Amino acid sequence: VVIQWFPGHMSKARRQVQENLKHVDIVMELVDARLPLSSRNPMLDKIIGNKPRLVIINKKDLADDLEIQKWVHYFESQGILAVKINAKEQQTVKKLTKAAREVLAEKLERASERGIQNKAIRTMIIGIPNVGKSTLMNRLAGKKIAITGNRPGVTRGQQWLKTNEALEILDTPGILWPKFEDQMIGLKLALTGAIKDDLIPKDEISIFALDFFKENYPSELKARYKLSDHEMSLSAVDLIVLLTKKYGFRDDYDRFYELLIKDIRDGKLGLYTLDRVSDLTAVDEVSDGN
Ligand code: G4P
Repeated sequence: VVIQWFPGHMSKARRQVQENLKHVDIVMELVDARLPLSSRNPMLDKIIGNKPRLVIINKKDLADDLEIQKWVHYFESQGILAVKINAKEQQTVKKLTKAAREVLAEKLERASERGIQNKAIRTMIIGIPNVGKSTLMNRLAGKKIAITGNRPGVTRGQQWLKTNEALEILDTPGILWPKFEDQMIGLKLALTGAIKDDLIPKDEISIFALDFFKENYPSELKARYKLSDHEMSLSAVDLIVLLTKKYGFRDDYDRFYELLIKDIRDGKLGLYTLDRVSDLTAVDEVSDGN
């Protein structure tokens, strides 16, 4: 999905999500396991208010499990239950139903005291483009469905996708925007392919990527490009020059940028998570990114 975000579009998306919110018991916020923070919408707290929420860390098959675990604990410390999934897997349905019941435990118990048993939980999926909303909804519905986002609730009445579990999903996912005015977030989104390739220059993405892997996953970088210890100590720019030559691309750096970015997206440098809990600053935690 290619969406051009501008202020009018943002407030419309926000309004439509808020309208649909009235009809659900719990919001499922989908994030990318490689970017558990950068793939969040900066205004989500404001948008959903105190509606119960479950954070779903998707694409776990592409990410660094150790880091994801830290993020699960981070969310927990914020009072939010987070579960990691691969939206393509069958067991996702059970996992999310169980987690939603856990978040809503008190509410369900009160309902059961009043004699209301086994009422299906109603939920909606919210996330930035490309986090896997359609994939997940198809998995939950158990079939391929045409999914378009951000329809206002009033025109047509709600349509619910029934899973084979006690869970019903609004057929319209909420599509919100990432915090792309933050340069670092832009680089991370671009590296994973979450945003269009022409939004950020490839040389900037590549320098960021080399610096990041040198610091966080040096042995994968070293092995993939057969680098010596000395070469590993070179700056990102010097590495680019060196590897462009090594590959025989002469001085066609763009060819090397493309190769590097594709390698990383394809997991050729292993599983990775670009957002690190250890990098969290006080600013991140209170940012509302208007
Ligand atoms: P969206 O509705 O939120 O915009 O995202 P969508 O479901 O279209 O998913 C975006 C891309 O992410 C798709 O890849 C999809 O297959 C992939 N994806 C979703 N969930 C997972 C996951 O848990 N693991 C992995 N590895 N990939 C996931 P695509 O290449 O754009 O399309 P396709 O050719 O795979 O269909």
